[in-house]
Amino acid sequence: MPRSASQQRLCIRSPFWDSRTQQHPPPCDSFFPVDSKTESQNHRKRIAVIPGDGIGQEVIPQALKVIRASGADVELSEFDWGADRYLRDGITVPLDGFAMLGRDFDAIFAGAFGDPRVKTNIHAKEILLGMRFKMDLYANVRPVRLLDASLCPLKSIEPKDVDFVVIRENTEGVYTDSGGVFKQGTPDEIAIQEDINTRKGVERIIRYAFEYCERHAKLDGTKRSRVLMCDKSNAMTHAGGLWQRVFKEVAGEHPQIATQHMYVDALCMQMVRDPRGFDVIVTNNMFGDIITDLAAGLQGGLGMAASGNIHPGQTSMFEPVHGSAPPIAGKNLANPFGAILTAAMMLAHLGMMREAEKIEAAVLEAVREKKTTSDIGGTLGTREAGDWVANLVTKKVLSS
Ligand code: NAD
Ligand code: IPM
Ligand code: MN
Repeated sequence: MPRSASQQRLCIRSPFWDSRTQQHPPPCDSFFPVDSKTESQNHRKRIAVIPGDGIGQEVIPQALKVIRASGADVELSEFDWGADRYLRDGITVPLDGFAMLGRDFDAIFAGAFGDPRVKTNIHAKEILLGMRFKMDLYANVRPVRLLDASLCPLKSIEPKDVDFVVIRENTEGVYTDSGGVFKQGTPDEIAIQEDINTRKGVERIIRYAFEYCERHAKLDGTKRSRVLMCDKSNAMTHAGGLWQRVFKEVAGEHPQIATQHMYVDALCMQMVRDPRGFDVIVTNNMFGDIITDLAAGLQGGLGMAASGNIHPGQTSMFEPVHGSAPPIAGKNLANPFGAILTAAMMLAHLGMMREAEKIEAAVLEAVREKKTTSDIGGTLGTREAGDWVANLVTKKVLSS
């Protein structure tokens, strides 16, 4: 999304871990520190909210309640983009919609898109992938953090053992949907799905991963120190070759960061056998999609996983990793914590570290006290779990 020169000049980086000064992050650092679009810390942040479909419509209101409880200085504007709107008037994204989001908002907070009534999934493609592609949100940052040992299906794994991040390329690969179908419906049918990898796209995501590693500490305050590239260059040699060459080149500019490489199949095995060694993982769009659902399993399931779709210095979009979950939609069963942690990630991104920290601390306490939905062992409904966290955040605000 193009921005005016004056807007670009105003963007600064947030003060996270600084590998040159060897300083730990400030005490108010968040669970989910990412680059900040913090041109001015003191103007009210405008957030576009798009709950979308299915459980998106249930978990986003809980997260909004928690944002309000935190006292964050935000202005929330809701948009009805999603399946209902599409089925009503055929509109997925209104004319000029992405330009409006980039121009008028500091961040976007989205739920989920996907509805069994829309068989083509066209609205999800146009809204969700539309934001990622047309707003050029090239870094999909998916932190993987285990809040409590009881949430991990692996034995003897503690919270300190699972604190890594997947940096997923978000604008290229097979997701460009390039290709075609020929001789459809005949025995000679051909389907081609191209995997697009540009030098620019590969380089910027790998660079982002190294810079993320340099600037961000783990939750316990220790430095991040390793970037692992995950690919399938033994079989997909053309794209893999480009990723391998760029990875080596960018790694050369960061001699203090250790590098690792794993094929995606081996990485999946390692993630469920022993996830302790992971730190920063960088990978392409499709592998990133798959391994972050797998990684969500380490955190207690899809209901716990947060993500940000980032273009540094531009309006970025935040959404839980999960989808619209039709089987549980409308039943007050969905876990709102992934959306609430995503809200914290967004506030941290916008420079509201204190608010983010309170929210994250409240979710952690909810998990420890089992004030949760049933997917992670509690007995509360979506709304009640949201209320519990919002009340605790209010208490934290009042006592601070
Ligand atoms: P999904 O993430 O929606 O759900 C898979 C299963 O995980 C659910 O049936 C449920 O059992 C569990 N689950 C997910 N989120 C949960 C939560 N918050 N609390 C408790 N349990 C939860 O994946 P799916 O079933 O493959 O996809 C359903 C629809 O969502 C599809 O249309 C898909 O394309 C779409 N989708 C959208 C997004 C997005 O908008 N970001 C992401 C993934 C899937
Ligand atoms: C995700 C989702 C999307 C993706 C789908 C809905 C297109 O699974 O955000 O992880 O594949 O990126
Ligand atoms: Mn996914």
